[in-house]
Amino acid sequence: MLERRSFGSTGLDVSIVGLGAGQIGEVDVTEAEAAEVLNGALDLGVTLVDTAASYGLSEERVGRHLGHRRDEFVLSTKGGPKINGQRDWSPGSVLESIERSLRLTGSERLDIFYLHSCPVEILRRGDLQDTLDKAVDAGKIGVAGYSGDNEALAFAVESGRFGAIETSVNIADQWNLRNVLGQRPEQGVIAKRPIANAPWRFPQRPVGNYAELYWERLQALDLDPGAMDWAEFALRFTVYAPGVHTAIVGTAKLAHLQENITAASRGPLEAGALQSIDNAWRTVGSEWPAST
Ligand SMILES: NC(=O)c1ccc[n+]([C@@H]2O[C@H](COP(=O)([O-])OP(=O)(O)OC[C@H]3O[C@@H](n4cnc5c(N)ncnc54)[C@H](OP(=O)(O)O)[C@@H]3O)[C@@H](O)[C@H]2O)c1
Repeated sequence: MLERRSFGSTGLDVSIVGLGAGQIGEVDVTEAEAAEVLNGALDLGVTLVDTAASYGLSEERVGRHLGHRRDEFVLSTKGGPKINGQRDWSPGSVLESIERSLRLTGSERLDIFYLHSCPVEILRRGDLQDTLDKAVDAGKIGVAGYSGDNEALAFAVESGRFGAIETSVNIADQWNLRNVLGQRPEQGVIAKRPIANAPWRFPQRPVGNYAELYWERLQALDLDPGAMDWAEFALRFTVYAPGVHTAIVGTAKLAHLQENITAASRGPLEAGALQSIDNAWRTVGSEWPAST
């Protein structure tokens, strides 16, 4: 069975590999493909599905295809701002966002709701944290979360106002891991982008692609996965990184999810591999901020 961990002190249990449901939000993924990966994930023992208001069709597809299995997984979603030319981070927008996610996912309660990449200057106001607390009291959300990176993540963690954190952690993105995680063991921690957007798929620099930054960093790190394939090497690093409870690999392909579960179940990387990643990071990566 796919290993599960306690998600901080939230009372939730999560599988060590979750489904990143960003990809199933794309219009070129069919309903049948979305249904297959969502249901296949639960059948394989995945108990965490991560989506967001901004992931296209994702939330409504989670509702459509997993509504009948809602008690089998932890639903993690993100939102907050209303976009009217610029981002409106008002308490009213956050409440609207929660209501919309409830409706689209067909849920009575969102197990975890994150302020999605909320800037630190907005977090400093404190009113959105109050709004989330009220939503918890009203039973609309289970756990108040923050999703982001760097200084804003550090502020969110230190404030103690969030029960859950979602942040970038992978072989090519270690700022959050090294500088922030581990300070508050009571917080649940989800690693996003856990295989660094799989940049090894591109023999040449993928200019303009989401994976370009990590492609460039992997070139500089010059790591060697040895006999392992890259996805396994990258995922085993993230899943067993200190402070991480679960890694949400993004895919719309059930075969890839199956491979990722098999890889993660092999356990942590050996000490020699971890040492070489650490050496490479200290040599070329120590000044790199987290990708936002
Ligand atoms: N909070 C935020 O701001 C934020 C930002 C980014 C991501 N996220 C969340 O984190 C999730 C994961 O992040 P991500 O998708 O950006 O990065 P990721 O999980 O590191 O990489 C996903 C990419 O890897 C490929 N892939 C997955 N398994 C593979 C395998 N076994 N072999 C080869 N390629 C494989 C996928 O392609 P295929 O589709 O071909 O499998 C996809 O292109 C998202 O779905 C989302 O839920 C949150």
